[in-house]
Amino acid sequence: MDSKYKTGLTNGYSPQKSGPSQDDGHLPKKFRSDDSTHSKGYSSVSISKHRRSLPVFAVKSRLLEEINNHSTLIIIGETGSGKTTQIPQYIHDARLEKSGAIAITQPRRVAAITVALRVATEMGSPIGHGVGYAVRFEDVTSPETKLKYLTDGMLLREALIDNLLMSYNVIILDEAHERTIHTDVLFGIVKQAQSIRRAKNFKPLKVILMSATMDVDHFSSYFDDAPVVYLQGRQFPVNIMQALKSHEDYNFAILVTVFQIHREAPPNEDILVFLTGQEEIEAMVYSARLVAKDLMKSGPQLRVLPLYAALAQFQQLEVLRPGLPCSRKLILSTNIAETSITIPGVKYVIDSGMVKLRTHNPTTGMDSLKVQRISKAQAWQRAGRAGREGPGTCYRMYTDEEYNNMAEMTVPEIQRCNLSGVVLQLLAMGVNALSFDFMDRPPVESIMEAMKKLSYLSAIISINRPELTPLGHQMAAFPLDPHYSRVILAARDMGCVEEVVTLVAVLSGENLRVTVSKRREDAASAHQKFASPTGDHITNLNIFRAYNSASMKKQFCFDNFLNNRNLEYAAGVRSQLLDLCRHSNIPISSCGQDRDCIRKCLIAGLFGNLAQLQREGHYLTVGSNQVVAIHPSSVLFRSKPPLVIYGEVVQTGRCYMRQVSSIDPEWVNHIAPPDFQRKINACLNASM
Ligand code: CDP
Ligand code: MG
Repeated sequence: MDSKYKTGLTNGYSPQKSGPSQDDGHLPKKFRSDDSTHSKGYSSVSISKHRRSLPVFAVKSRLLEEINNHSTLIIIGETGSGKTTQIPQYIHDARLEKSGAIAITQPRRVAAITVALRVATEMGSPIGHGVGYAVRFEDVTSPETKLKYLTDGMLLREALIDNLLMSYNVIILDEAHERTIHTDVLFGIVKQAQSIRRAKNFKPLKVILMSATMDVDHFSSYFDDAPVVYLQGRQFPVNIMQALKSHEDYNFAILVTVFQIHREAPPNEDILVFLTGQEEIEAMVYSARLVAKDLMKSGPQLRVLPLYAALAQFQQLEVLRPGLPCSRKLILSTNIAETSITIPGVKYVIDSGMVKLRTHNPTTGMDSLKVQRISKAQAWQRAGRAGREGPGTCYRMYTDEEYNNMAEMTVPEIQRCNLSGVVLQLLAMGVNALSFDFMDRPPVESIMEAMKKLSYLSAIISINRPELTPLGHQMAAFPLDPHYSRVILAARDMGCVEEVVTLVAVLSGENLRVTVSKRREDAASAHQKFASPTGDHITNLNIFRAYNSASMKKQFCFDNFLNNRNLEYAAGVRSQLLDLCRHSNIPISSCGQDRDCIRKCLIAGLFGNLAQLQREGHYLTVGSNQVVAIHPSSVLFRSKPPLVIYGEVVQTGRCYMRQVSSIDPEWVNHIAPPDFQRKINACLNASM
């Protein structure tokens, strides 16, 4: 059957022999479980039968013994073997957490929420009671919560209040291989908490690291040679089909492959496609639905389902549900589906080979979201998703040569990201990042650069005296990037807290406007109603205001081509942020019609994100001289003001600024920090 695909496509593939199952072959198989107990989906079988069928169940008692005997343990097992949902329940059933609670961290909020809901169902308890979750801007726990699923960022915030994390007797750092910046900091925090608690004869803290695949020796040696337990997962062979030539436009090649599979494969064999982000996914959802409607008059129904972090919960759950009879699911996902979420029914994986990563350039000081090649480890992890329930196939949109050029492992986020948030949080815990026990130390230049930024933001006394100022303490209280916390604190002084908090809430979610639509022009004219000549920030504020006062919100969004769920999310975040302001004694002021102060507040935090129009028609970032352009989705795309401030830079071929507003150069002089002002003025004068 595979050879059929090999020859039938316009863009050919060549099969590759080794698969993830062989890749994992070197792992010492300490524990084994019986593959024959495997059950497909869980709707038709009882929950307890499903739980017993998971690979981890077969080794439950031995696993508990290991957990009981060691203060730190590393558990490695394939995605779907039951680590995240089962192990915390086993620990709780055996009461190993004693009087404390069990924290289980997840790098993604989606995973924390869906897993907690699943475990609550399995335990037959309403969410928020025995099992709960805490993600940024949402806390569904109570004093009786014993199993608390939370994002790594949330546990880190808890460590700000109590760095010994005394409410937990067991902490599970899950998906440890993802090496998010927060997980990496937590490694050091829990290690330190464990040893201080031991030294002071406090309740002992048990630390468990769980992961699909990772560099075990590195982890084990950092955690004082912690023992490693391998779970024998079930991984069926996956046939790897590598592209014969490289694709300029992998989106098209993916669609061709999808419909080829759809025409030829039996229904109920689902397809999982790995793409880079929400917009790309929504665009492909749209095209795939159109093609399916036009071409597929007969044959099984194709249900096209997106999956990305910002998606509403019910839509995410839709993906996890077993398929309908005689239909096929096509799931278009970000790297979310690589390890943290297990999707039943997948038989085919199509891997674009790309991922969107936040990277930071310490030389230019610029942060950007960059679409780039995945690592080899990710490529195998993605392919493995096709072999969860039986033999499968993975189509790679990249050639053998492109594969060979990939890095072995993804560089940990802490070594490639802007550290100002982490450095601030560590300082709030009384720790200097320069002397912190990192598993992999970030470059000293990055730490120093973060200190410099914090000093510009007046969060620390100086680089030489990295102690938090009162302003710095207030900034650390917000679960936001310090630049945005600074913007909110500036709003306190300028009397526009309500407006600025609304803006920040909108920015912490996804795009408010629906851009992919058959009625592009209608959408554009609907959006025009909200447009502000000053830029995207005030435009977003206008959108939110109109939404907030609409009585029929869904209908309002539909009529105006706005994204209801993103607006709903923003509304939730806004009310949380307003609560936080009240907690910090920040009055909720409003500037009414005099709105210039809103953009002035932006300068107070984002002074490093200014760009100036050049005679040649492009923009140069102030201070770092990078060529950038206004993103076509910005309301300022055609107007090109002389000086702009931006929220982020997205690199897709060109560097595009997003969330752009125009800025009066006069304002900069009054608001940006004095040292930085000199830098800005030098640039502004040079180009006059
Ligand atoms: O953590 P690991 O990848 O080892 O597995 P898990 O997340 O504990 O998932 C074990 C099984 O539970 C999956 O294969 C799914 O069948 C099921 N599950 C589910 O039905 N719904 C969820 N939200 C999570 C897991
Ligand atoms: Mg898991």
